[in-house]
Amino acid sequence: MCKNMSFFPSPHTCILPVILINQVRHNHRDRWDCGGNRLGIGGYVFKCPRCGYETEPSPINFTCPRCGSLMEAVLAELPRDVRFRYRRRLGVWSYVQLLPRPRVRVTLNEGGTPLIKIDRGLYGKFEGLNPTGSFKDRGMAVGVSLAKSMGVHSVVVASTGNTAASASAYGARAGLRPIVLLPNGKVARGKLIQSIVHGASIMDVEGYFDDALTEALEMFRSGKAYSLNSINVWRLEGQKSIAYEIYEEVKVPDNVIVPVGNAGNIYAIWKGFWELMQAGLIDRLPRMIGVQAEGAAPLYETWRRGADSLIEVNAPRTIASAIRIGKPVNWLKAIKAVKTTNGLVVTVSDDEIMRARDRLARRGVFVEPASASTYAAYLKLLREGVVDSGELTILVLTGHGLKDPDSVKG
Ligand code: F0G
Repeated sequence: MCKNMSFFPSPHTCILPVILINQVRHNHRDRWDCGGNRLGIGGYVFKCPRCGYETEPSPINFTCPRCGSLMEAVLAELPRDVRFRYRRRLGVWSYVQLLPRPRVRVTLNEGGTPLIKIDRGLYGKFEGLNPTGSFKDRGMAVGVSLAKSMGVHSVVVASTGNTAASASAYGARAGLRPIVLLPNGKVARGKLIQSIVHGASIMDVEGYFDDALTEALEMFRSGKAYSLNSINVWRLEGQKSIAYEIYEEVKVPDNVIVPVGNAGNIYAIWKGFWELMQAGLIDRLPRMIGVQAEGAAPLYETWRRGADSLIEVNAPRTIASAIRIGKPVNWLKAIKAVKTTNGLVVTVSDDEIMRARDRLARRGVFVEPASASTYAAYLKLLREGVVDSGELTILVLTGHGLKDPDSVKG
């Protein structure tokens, strides 16, 4: 249950978003869906990863009308001549050739993060150097731009912390009202402070991230605010730029290791590489390797057992609070990313995560525990002979270490 229901400061602002979202609903078929120039999503089709159903793209309806799975936003035609180079001034919009083209483009010059050498054959893509300190900024640039172009006033996310920090910053930047739903007592201090300073309305939810997400999606469905959680395929479009940047530096690595929480990012990165292959720029895909903490491993269990529905974890536990998630909504897409690249999902213990975090820090790279899980996984897979130091492996170091100071023993 929400403890604080007074997140709308006045009756006016309470009613206004409802009207606006309803207006979006009413108008979007004829004005904004499929090719509307406001949102610039006409170059996409929605395809269901489970039943194959195809439909026109939508800014607000992300589920398959036939089977209820989350749709994929697929570029109907890839440009023949894909040429890009990241430019700091444009941020993620450097890749606009392969992105939606909304009327308003919001940016804080996200992306352009460095690939830092960790060891022989091993590099870390340090996403902690994004404007709010995590990879979420790439997605928010696109998601918030769409929200702004649609004319909504409020955006909402449930979050383990980073999505909230990013939605708060980008929402503030665009003049939208961010509402963030956080699992009570389970969000790292640095992340919470970010949402506060950017002026978000914060609601504590008893339970886990998954409970907060249920409430946030209810607010979205009832028209109170626009959802920027990773059910929103347009946000994931921004995140695929991680793959484009890796390609610009090293073409195709052998392995890309990604921490998995709600399972959107591993899919987004896979999609970026997949598009590069469709465009004829690369001729193979990297092996996508997902990492979960032992106490919060629904994707691992689902993948290991080859299940065709998600094996949920009801009370996920790990020190890596960013990925303390038991019911990842993008699980099906993540499984697709892993399976089509001959990849795998692995688990690591909290001890392994903290040792990996300290080891990276001693090499000058300070990341939060969830991000360090990738290094822990690499070391484990190296020992088991699943990866080799003669290969090129990229760790996606998703968030900065300063976000979670309490995880460091003083
Ligand atoms: N690493 C960090 C630092 C994260 O914050 C998250 C997700 C992930 C990895 C996992 O990414 O969900 O796409 O599989 N954080 C979300 C949040 C859940 O609310 O900030 P994912």
